[in-house]
Amino acid sequence: MKVLLLGHKGMLGNDLMAQFKYRHEVIGMDREEINITSASECRRAVADVQPQLVINAAGFTNVDACETAKEECFAVNAEAVKNIAEACRDRNITVIHYSTDYVFDGNGNRPYTEDDPCNPINTYGASKLTGEHHLRRLTDNFILIRTAWLYGAKGKNFVQAILERARSTGQLTVVNDQTGSPTCTRDLAAATELLVDKNARGIFHVTNRGSCTWYDFARKILKEARLDTVEILPIKTGELQRAAKRPAYSVMSAQKFVTLTGKTMQPWQLAFSDYFKFISSRTCSGA
Ligand SMILES: NC(=O)c1ccc[n+]([C@@H]2O[C@H](COP(=O)([O-])OP(=O)(O)OC[C@H]3O[C@@H](n4cnc5c(N)ncnc54)[C@H](OP(=O)(O)O)[C@@H]3O)[C@@H](O)[C@H]2O)c1
Repeated sequence: MKVLLLGHKGMLGNDLMAQFKYRHEVIGMDREEINITSASECRRAVADVQPQLVINAAGFTNVDACETAKEECFAVNAEAVKNIAEACRDRNITVIHYSTDYVFDGNGNRPYTEDDPCNPINTYGASKLTGEHHLRRLTDNFILIRTAWLYGAKGKNFVQAILERARSTGQLTVVNDQTGSPTCTRDLAAATELLVDKNARGIFHVTNRGSCTWYDFARKILKEARLDTVEILPIKTGELQRAAKRPAYSVMSAQKFVTLTGKTMQPWQLAFSDYFKFISSRTCSGA
């Protein structure tokens, strides 16, 4: 297939390129080539490339910055999805788009399903939900993947932040009252290709299996990096002055994905161990 991958230089985009390029012809575009908030640029890109599949991995992903840069946040996370869906609709091109666990308010106590009501509590979540609505209103030919707590080899993420802080300060405080599912972008890219292979359409929740708090995840990161001597203290969300609210519980059920594909995502602990081995070997080899 000919695939147009938007946001290929981002954290997830980078792994999508690595995943899809073996079996598909992938044309990557990022901010230098296209501004997805422009409807005409989206139309032109689709007309030039003539893909069978458009994957949108671009987004405004700084959750706290979304609270102050609301206009840009909605332009990239909502209006741009409309532009992409409109550009693809008339040519019957499939669109793959990513959304977030932050479309939920976090007041639940069992994993959210695709049919559960959304009620975002921050601007990022609201912008992503508006993007979802545009996509669903404009086309049936889509795969909408809600995912969470991403980390990958490229880009800023929680793993990198914890390692940097542990090495520079030797002491950490991490919130222990938000529960979610850390997810490796390499696994998510593979799951995305699986959904394409199964000819899936509609909304799917895809994360690594199981759940933990950010504190648990930080402890796993330190253990894997052999930094267990670093002092790490659990704190409450209220003790951090962050611009955006976060849902307390945003675990999502992957049952629909499992039923369609016959595959389960690996547990988050194994995914992280694999990832850590991979980035360590890359650093050692100087890559
Ligand atoms: N990160 C997470 O924990 C997480 C969790 C749930 C869902 N998601 C969703 O997963 C997707 C991928 O996330 P990610 O963390 O991989 O994103 P990312 O690393 O922030 O990458 C996003 C890419 O999009 C580009 N971009 C931003 N605005 C653009 C524009 N107007 N036109 C063209 N390109 C633009 C960015 O360029 P610049 O770097 O130049 O801005 C960047 O290369 C997003 O839809 C996100 O909402 C992420």
